[in-house]
Amino acid sequence: MCGLLALTGCAAGPTRAPGVGSARAGERVAGLADVPDGSGALVPVGADGQLLLVRSGASVRAFNPACPHQGTVVNPPTAGVITCPTHRSTFDPSSGAVLSGPAEKGLREVPVRVTGQDVVLA
Ligand code: FES
Repeated sequence: MCGLLALTGCAAGPTRAPGVGSARAGERVAGLADVPDGSGALVPVGADGQLLLVRSGASVRAFNPACPHQGTVVNPPTAGVITCPTHRSTFDPSSGAVLSGPAEKGLREVPVRVTGQDVVLA
C-alpha cells in the first residue's frame, strides 16, 4: 500500500482503530500539555488504538472517536462542539452526548485519569 515508499519504509505507520486497542489500564496515553485546554486532540493509544481526549483545565475526558452512526473518526472539538466529518453529526465535548444527528447515540466514554502531567487509562 505504500508504493515507492516500500524501499525506505512506510511513512504512514501502523493502522490504528478507534478505541483503546491492546492498551491496558495504567498505560500513558498523552501528556496533559498535548491536549489543548478548551479543546482536544486525537491521540494514538498503545500499539493500535486511538482516542479523542477533551480537556477543560486540569480535567481530561476520553472518548472512543468512532462516530456511532457509521464509524468515521470524529474531529476534536472546535467552538465547543465535536463534529463528525462524514454526515455532520455533532456531540457535546463535556459528555459525548449527541447534539444533532444522524447519529442517535453519543460517543462512548473511556475512563482516564490525570496523574501529574500525564493522562493514563484508568
Ligand atoms: S458517520 Fe458520523 S454522522 Fe455519519
